[in-house]
Amino acid sequence: MPILYHTTDKMYDVIQDDNRILQIMSRMGLPLGFGEKTVQEVCASNKVDPVTFLALANYTKQGKDIVGYYIDKVSVEALMDYLIRCHHYFHNFLLPYVRRLLIEAINCSETNKVAFLIIKFYDEYTDAVKHHTKLENTKVFPYVGQLLNGQHNPLFRISDFTKSHEGMDQKLTELRNIVIKYYTSPEPTHQEHIYSVLEQIFRLGDTMKAHCELEDVLFVPAVQLLEKKIAVIDNNASVKKKVPEAEELSDREKELVCCIVQGLTNKEIAGKLYISVNTVITHRKNICRKLNIHSTAGLTIYAIVNRIVSLDDIRQNYI
Ligand SMILES: [Fe+2]
Ligand SMILES: [Fe+2]
Repeated sequence: MPILYHTTDKMYDVIQDDNRILQIMSRMGLPLGFGEKTVQEVCASNKVDPVTFLALANYTKQGKDIVGYYIDKVSVEALMDYLIRCHHYFHNFLLPYVRRLLIEAINCSETNKVAFLIIKFYDEYTDAVKHHTKLENTKVFPYVGQLLNGQHNPLFRISDFTKSHEGMDQKLTELRNIVIKYYTSPEPTHQEHIYSVLEQIFRLGDTMKAHCELEDVLFVPAVQLLEKKIAVIDNNASVKKKVPEAEELSDREKELVCCIVQGLTNKEIAGKLYISVNTVITHRKNICRKLNIHSTAGLTIYAIVNRIVSLDDIRQNYI
C-alpha cells in the first residue's frame, strides 16, 4: 500500500484531507497558524520528529497495514511522548467530558435505577482505563526510557505488555448495549441528549481502540527492535570483557625479552642483568604467562611488533 502523506505535503492539505489529524497535532504539541508550511517545516520549527508525525497521520488515514513501514523509522522517544500526552488527554479531558454528557443525558435527579447503574458502569470503565494507563506510565514507559539510555532490564520484556489490552473495550461495549436496549427516558425532551451521548461513547470507544492498536502494532514492535539493538551491544560488550587483555610487561621483563630473542642463555642473562639464574627463570615464567607466548620465535615476533628490539638486532644475532 503506497504511503499517502509525505514530508513535502502542505500541513493544511493533510488536515483538509482528514481532520482527525488535528488531534495528532494537538498531542504532539504542534500549534495552529502554520500558513502554507509543509509537514517538514511545521515539525522542524516545533522540534517534532516528522517521520513519527507522518507514521501517526498515515496510520489514522490508512489503518494498521501501513504501520509496518515505520517500525524501524519512528523515533521511539517521540512516540512515547505522544502516548503519554494521549493518556493525559483521556484522563483530564475526554473521560470526564463524556461523564458530564452522560449525567446530563440520563437525568440523574430522577430516582431511576438504570440511570444510576449506567453511571456506575461508566465509572468502572474509567477505573479500568486508569489502571491500564497507570501501568504504562509507571512500568512500561520508564522501562523504555532506560532502553533509550542504553540500559536493559532483563526482568522485563515489552511483549509482556501487549496482553494487557485484551478486554479493554468490553466494558464500554456493554455500557452502550445497556443504554441502547434498556434505558428509557421519562422525559421525551431528553432523547436528543441520549442519542448525542451515545455518539460520544462510540467515539470514545473508537479512540481508545485506536490507541491500544497503535501501541500494539507500532510502539511495541519499535521497542522490540530497540531491545534487540541493546542486546547486541550488551553481547558485544560481554564478549570484549571475556577476552583477557595482555598484561603489560615491566621494564625489567622487557629487558629479559630483549636478551631472550638475542639468543642468550639463562646464565648469560643473569650475568648481564646482575640477577640470579632463579630470578631469570621466574621472570621468564611471568613473561610467558602474561603474553601467553611460550616459544622464542613467538617472543621475537612480539618484541619486534612492540619495538622492544629492532629487526637489525635480530639479524645480527642470527647471521
Ligand atoms: Fe496507552
Ligand atoms: Fe495501552
